[in-house]
Amino acid sequence: MRFAVLASGGGSILEAMLDQGLSPYVVCADRHCGALEIAERAGIERLLIERESFDARFDRVGYSNRLCEELLSRDIELIAMAGFMTLLAGRVFEVFGGRILNTHPALLPAFKGAHAVRDAFNMGVKVTGCTIHIATPEMDSGPILAQRAVEVDPSDTIDSLHEKIKRVERELYPEVIRAFLAKEYEVNDPTTAI
Ligand code: GRF
Repeated sequence: MRFAVLASGGGSILEAMLDQGLSPYVVCADRHCGALEIAERAGIERLLIERESFDARFDRVGYSNRLCEELLSRDIELIAMAGFMTLLAGRVFEVFGGRILNTHPALLPAFKGAHAVRDAFNMGVKVTGCTIHIATPEMDSGPILAQRAVEVDPSDTIDSLHEKIKRVERELYPEVIRAFLAKEYEVNDPTTAI
């Protein structure tokens, strides 16, 4: 199964995938970012589909359709979002439904959204973690495939907590992707893990 990684940030989760022997066919980004540099160093195709705006003028459906066509033209079968900060919409969920994975830095359904680590920290939670789930059009709401907990220490800051969560994401996400590629999850019933 050919898979694509979608990223917007430093790309340490992508790097963990590569270190653990996973080989994405293409790394796609919505902005210039570290993940593209990691892909370049690894000799993986880089696809930059830059967002033209970050405000209300952003054509989310148009952007998602363009991304969808690019992935289809490469016969991609699985999409793994790894810190991709553009919420997708429209046709991509019909074409790739049940085959779009995401890692979220909190224990869903708690703390959805782009500021999950900060929100959990400010709430004073003592335990948080990460969630690997199937992405659906509603943000951070699809079926959960795996979760791992992280304890919040009194000495933690938002940054140190995020780094602790990323440490577990770097272990867990590659495991889930590997299982998904090995078809250990039923695509039509993604909650059924073997
Ligand atoms: C991860 O914590 C991911 O869950 C969040 O962004 C972070 C990506 O980290 N959405 P990196 O860019 O792979 O280092």
